[in-house]
Amino acid sequence: MVKAFARSGYAQPAVMGTRLERLSSFLSKTLRAWAQRWRGLGAAVLLVAVAGCGSSTEESASNAAAHPGETTYTRYCFSCHAAGIAGAPRAGDAEQWAPRLAKGPEALLASTIAGIAPGMPARGLCNQCSDEELTNAIDYMTKPRE
Ligand code: HEC
Repeated sequence: MVKAFARSGYAQPAVMGTRLERLSSFLSKTLRAWAQRWRGLGAAVLLVAVAGCGSSTEESASNAAAHPGETTYTRYCFSCHAAGIAGAPRAGDAEQWAPRLAKGPEALLASTIAGIAPGMPARGLCNQCSDEELTNAIDYMTKPRE
């Protein structure tokens, strides 16, 4: 680039000098700003890591992991409850779940186990799922998504 300027006779050496100076001061300012930003970020990451370690009980570890009902939901319930097939209440849709949640968790589990003819199959097609796994899947489905 410098060569091109020089060849064109456009840039006088003095002008080039001030340009280069400006460029290098701009670059060093930018680099310094970046360094500061990354240092800040590093500190934040470190803080989070330390905080995470500090409260690392078994419970917070499982909270950080996926929802316990997610796997069951994804494997068995998703096919109907994601899109709302055959009138299935859509996962994460607070409005659609509200009247059903009002029945209470035991009633929801009971109708999941028994099924609701004709659309909702017994145990949501997961015959080998324990009641607890179904409860977790229901909890996962009925949680409003942000
Ligand atoms: C073949 C489609 C299908 C699958 C698979 C399915 N559901 Fe459903 N589900 C439905 C339909 C349809 C309804 C609405 C039934 C009605 O109210 O008539 C429903 C309703 C429900 C309800 C509301 C029950 C109530 O009392 O209001 C719950 C809870 C539920 N399903 C849980 C599950 C769970 C948990 C799974 C996976 C383990 C699952 N479903 C898999 C179709 C399905």
